[in-house]
Amino acid sequence: MSNPVALVTGAAAGIGKAVALLFAEQGCDVVISDIQDEKLQAVAKQIEAMGQRVVAMHVNVGDEAAVRQLHQRTLETFGRLDYACNNAGIEGDAAKFTDCSMENFDRVMNINTRGLFVCMQEQIAIMQKQSGGAIVNISSIAGLVGFPERPAYCASKGAVVQLTRAGAIEYAEQNIRVNAICPGVIHTDMIDRVTGKDPEMEAAYGAFHPMNRMGTVDEVAQTVVFLCSEKAGFITGQALAVDGGMVAR
Ligand SMILES: NC(=O)c1ccc[n+]([C@@H]2O[C@H](COP(=O)([O-])OP(=O)(O)OC[C@H]3O[C@@H](n4cnc5c(N)ncnc54)[C@H](O)[C@@H]3O)[C@@H](O)[C@H]2O)c1
Repeated sequence: MSNPVALVTGAAAGIGKAVALLFAEQGCDVVISDIQDEKLQAVAKQIEAMGQRVVAMHVNVGDEAAVRQLHQRTLETFGRLDYACNNAGIEGDAAKFTDCSMENFDRVMNINTRGLFVCMQEQIAIMQKQSGGAIVNISSIAGLVGFPERPAYCASKGAVVQLTRAGAIEYAEQNIRVNAICPGVIHTDMIDRVTGKDPEMEAAYGAFHPMNRMGTVDEVAQTVVFLCSEKAGFITGQALAVDGGMVAR
């Protein structure tokens, strides 16, 4: 029996890197992609050191042709795709609703929503030809509730939740499960960019959550792997908050 094959976008850093490494630890061969080449190669080396096969490819998820090539390469190399984590995303610029530029709106939607949609199309097409598969989309709590000064980000992540539901119901009978994870604030480079690593701001971000701390990349990665596993065999179409209780308030 060959190893299961997992694909992760935005795998050079943060949540995506943790997901890719955990898939490898669980015995998967892994396809990783990102726009940060050096960091991506470093993750590829870590996966190889675990004894798993890896394909690392420079792919901007906002580039439709590149996304389709990534999946073509996955098929050429491994002949199948069992799990996909559509993680690549950007926060965009912070600006009041009325000041959000159309350039910012289009850029965020193109990467976070349109790019993820193309990924899902390719993944579902592959999974339909085999015995099924599991897709986990990384949305955000900003896809469930509104946040100030991030209208494009909120819109892009809300759309990810709806793409998840639409894909899930259309392919449920073909054993393709599609779920979304909506993380609270997870300590990554993205959050360092937002807080500027200012301890007071970091504490304030932690305090958004009833658990009074930020989440870790491992807590998200463990949830991705669970949702892909047979233990989650009857779970599809869900948007699961991994947020220390934030949206339960
Ligand atoms: N960190 C958080 O608090 C948080 C909370 C909720 C949701 N998320 C979501 O989780 C995902 C990962 O976030 P993170 O915190 O790990 O961010 P990060 O910025 O630390 O890492 C994101 C990775 O995606 C890559 N990337 C960015 N644009 C890309 C593109 N166009 N094509 C391919 N790769 C691209 C980056 O190079 C980077 O390696 C994002 O979709 C983000 O919106 C993060």
